Amino acid sequence: MKVLLTGGAGFIGSHLAEAYIKAGYDVVIVDNLAAGKLENVPDRAKLYILDIGAPELEKIFEIEKPDIVNHHAAQISVTVSARDPVKDAQTNALGLLNVLNNTIKYKVKKVIFISSGGAMYGDADVVPTPEEYETRPLSPYGIHKLLGEHYLRFFNNQYGLHYTVLRYSNVYGPRQDPFGEAGVVAIFTNNLLNNRTSKIYAYPEEPEGMIRDYVYVKDVVKANLLATENEKDITVNIGTENAVKTNQLYRMLCTITGNNIEPEFAEARPGDLKVSCLSNKKANKLLGWKPVYTLKEGLSETVKYFNSI
Ligand SMILES: NC(=O)c1ccc[n+]([C@@H]2O[C@H](COP(=O)([O-])OP(=O)(O)OC[C@H]3O[C@@H](n4cnc5c(N)ncnc54)[C@H](O)[C@@H]3O)[C@@H](O)[C@H]2O)c1
Repeated sequence: MKVLLTGGAGFIGSHLAEAYIKAGYDVVIVDNLAAGKLENVPDRAKLYILDIGAPELEKIFEIEKPDIVNHHAAQISVTVSARDPVKDAQTNALGLLNVLNNTIKYKVKKVIFISSGGAMYGDADVVPTPEEYETRPLSPYGIHKLLGEHYLRFFNNQYGLHYTVLRYSNVYGPRQDPFGEAGVVAIFTNNLLNNRTSKIYAYPEEPEGMIRDYVYVKDVVKANLLATENEKDITVNIGTENAVKTNQLYRMLCTITGNNIEPEFAEARPGDLKVSCLSNKKANKLLGWKPVYTLKEGLSETVKYFNSI
């Protein structure tokens, strides 16, 4: 069975590439290295360095004839998407369409599309938020993720393309970029290990920071493996149902790193969600998925990784 994995040189995609190989899949990665790194790509994966929107993508489908496409490539910055919606659309809308058109032409059986729970539900008043909750994305990033979900339903109706949509909560773990605007676990860990202070953004009515559901990358990988083997056309959240405030997370990382540096508190930025926490009942029922890593275990593995690089 051959999987074409877009974004496989990135944080989550590279863990997934390793797991696919371990599970016996042939793995072909398409990544333009906009954020991904060559050293993340496992030796046994075949890498094509290419933009997913490029016409040359068709040649890769023609040569490789994948059975499954797992689509992780994306412009992932909400801020960039707000500043430059066209740039976001180039990868997250037009790039996706280029991938989907080729899946039809080259008779791919199934697509796994990665969406975002936080970007999808906004500041939900039902927590943990189920998939049925109204979708109301607040950024071009979220709008294009929702557009992608609609396109999958269209391709399913029109051509019978099978799909699974995985709406992630906040994913963390080894290889996450500590210099990005999101990914607080990587940012805080890197700061603590380098004796630097971190900034915690908070609203006045919730001075301990934002409430978030952090899911460990290995649990996310497991969800992808289950989705790859599953035949149903479904949309499910991938989160833990356990939310913590940013300051609680920071304190846990202080304990694990053994480094207690007082953080700075700053006013929440425009668009910062107060709460994001996803229900995982549907993923449990339809995929048999449940996270197995506690936050403490996942953070400990992450700190170990950042300590080793
Ligand atoms: N990290 C999270 O908490 C989180 C939460 C929800 C959803 N997601 C989604 O998960 C997926 C992976 O995110 P990640 O955190 O691993 O980010 P990442 O930036 O590490 O990975 C994205 C990969 O896509 C590649 N890429 C970007 N634009 C491309 C293009 N036009 N053509 C080819 N490759 C391109 C990048 O080089 C990178 O390797 C994304 O779709 C993201 O939207 C992530």
